[in-house]
Amino acid sequence: MEKESEVQVKKVQGAMAQLSHEELVSHWEETLSTPRRRYRIDAKILFSLLDFLYGKKRTLPKFKILELVARVPYQSWEQVSYIAITHTYERTNLARKIFNRVTESRNQQDNEQWHLLILEDLITKKQIKESKIKYWVIPQIIAFVYYQLSWLLYVIRPGWSYGLNADFEDHAQHEYALLVKENPEWENEPFDSVFAEDYAELDTVADLFRQISYDEKVHKEESLDKMGHPRFV
Ligand SMILES: [Fe+2]
Ligand SMILES: [Fe+2]
Repeated sequence: MEKESEVQVKKVQGAMAQLSHEELVSHWEETLSTPRRRYRIDAKILFSLLDFLYGKKRTLPKFKILELVARVPYQSWEQVSYIAITHTYERTNLARKIFNRVTESRNQQDNEQWHLLILEDLITKKQIKESKIKYWVIPQIIAFVYYQLSWLLYVIRPGWSYGLNADFEDHAQHEYALLVKENPEWENEPFDSVFAEDYAELDTVADLFRQISYDEKVHKEESLDKMGHPRFV
């Protein structure tokens, strides 16, 4: 029988681009000097709720919650697209366009999944204690509600759902950039994770979070781009 350590995971979307240390620093500085988006009311409520439940302080367990929630819009878009495909299979071009949208959503989910797994790995290594109710049960409830909201907005008007996600990704991009700034000791801490090969080879923990911040920026730009187009074009 195959041992757990020997299980091979099919290569899926790792980092959104493999950047050098210099490029990562340049993107990071740009993020720190760029103002945030003017967030929508639903995004503001979500960020306030997360601050209320997990504190304003940027901690690794709080970022784990962010990543748990981050996958949700992509899952809801994927599900709506699959439903749409079943009704359009006779129109080949439209079905292909919808399937392309499914693939994009899945790539983003995979990318967010690596963020989540790497954070969980770091939290375990640093022996940070988390209560099960606060860091497992409550996040599942938040993710469930956020899924319904993303799904509903996407069905009514996709631009609303993409707009909400753009705010979420912009928030994540800036939060990760500030996390690096607040933890200068990470510039010398080697990035060592069982998921490094799947995600990206990076020298330090500081560069890891710069890379994740860059990924969130790419997610944001993709959502902003989609906002201007009809559902499946
Ligand atoms: Fe993420
Ligand atoms: Fe993201």
